[in-house]
Amino acid sequence: MPKLADRAGKIAESVTLAVDAKAKQLAAEGVDVVGFGAGEPDFDTPKYVCEAGKAAIDKGQTRYTPASGTMELKKAVAAKLKKDNGLEYDPAKEVLISCGAKHVIYNLIDVMVNPGDEVVIPAPYWVSYPEMVRVADGIPVMPLAGGDQGFKLTPAQWAKAITPKTKAVILNSPSNPTGAVYSPEELKAIAAVLVDKDVWVISDEIYEKLVFGSMKHASIAALEPKLKARTLVVNGHSKSYAMTGWRIGYAAGPAAVIKAAANLQSHSTSNPSTMCQVAATAALTQNDGGARELETMRKEFEGRRDLIVDRLNKLPGVKCVKPDGAFYVFPDVSGCYGKSYAGVKMTDSLTFASVCLEKAHVALVPGSAFGDDRCVRLSFATSREKINKGIDRLEKLLKG
Ligand SMILES: Cc1ncc(COP(=O)(O)O)c(C=O)c1O
Repeated sequence: MPKLADRAGKIAESVTLAVDAKAKQLAAEGVDVVGFGAGEPDFDTPKYVCEAGKAAIDKGQTRYTPASGTMELKKAVAAKLKKDNGLEYDPAKEVLISCGAKHVIYNLIDVMVNPGDEVVIPAPYWVSYPEMVRVADGIPVMPLAGGDQGFKLTPAQWAKAITPKTKAVILNSPSNPTGAVYSPEELKAIAAVLVDKDVWVISDEIYEKLVFGSMKHASIAALEPKLKARTLVVNGHSKSYAMTGWRIGYAAGPAAVIKAAANLQSHSTSNPSTMCQVAATAALTQNDGGARELETMRKEFEGRRDLIVDRLNKLPGVKCVKPDGAFYVFPDVSGCYGKSYAGVKMTDSLTFASVCLEKAHVALVPGSAFGDDRCVRLSFATSREKINKGIDRLEKLLKG
């Protein structure tokens, strides 16, 4: 058999796979597993968006569009970025529509990173960032911000991580897996570090609409105009509009990068699905941009956050920072390491997750997958009833 490319060997197998496969196997055997693994909202896509998608098919909007997306959607995205984020872009040259934000980021990294270039990715990080950088033969540099600092890198840590080899930095606020949100003041301080460095900034704002309490989402490019020429704002419909299956994401930024990424996309996927682009345009332009639906979801997530954080912090050995955004909590469970539960010793986040699954039938994701082995990730994109049921089980396990 011919050998695969060296590149193929660089992509790590997901450490979450083992736990996920086991959870699915247990469920298939009829075990009632409470799942905290979901990375998607448990709401349905708003009705007016679905109607727009269906109408597009009925109207015969079933053919190719320009590879980088339709002008209608690009205009809708540009209008959204102006209204919500105070950022102005030329829809014709500075906006790219791709098959989800994941695809957007993949394209961007591929056109930015040369072999040996460093990309700063604050840990805990979304699992795909380092793998994408490795596929591009780049080197992920991953300084850690633990729960004691709210999972947010300090400006000094940012400054230290950036070297002459740094090509890009990835900022993800609100964050997956921690739910941490950088305040406008914190972003300004980071912008002050980045402004005189010759690096691209990828600002992944996919959880923008899920921010709680008095915290406000801000876009770093709007806070420091000088940074806008080097910043790529990434967003999409998956999380805010509960549209994970529609696969629509977008980037806005300097025309040269958008053009290069669009060229790449034109040879890989071509355009994102045509009717999904129509639906995504409707999502942004009709029904006040879905403001009412979005707010209903946001409020529900906020209530669930309060519930899950409160309950987790009452468990022995568990410390949970209250996240300001997204739909994840990232509790530190290292207080349980070295102890035995249901006859099994927990030594790290993987054994913690395995014991929770096998002995309590609760599925959660080990923090090692996100670069912090002290923690585990629980998604609260699930009902309050299931949250209570799952935490009851964890309580029994950890107190038993
Ligand atoms: C931080 C972050 N960025 C990007 C994505 C990609 O979202 P999508 O490709 O569905 O738009 C996800 C999905 O989980 C995410 O958590």
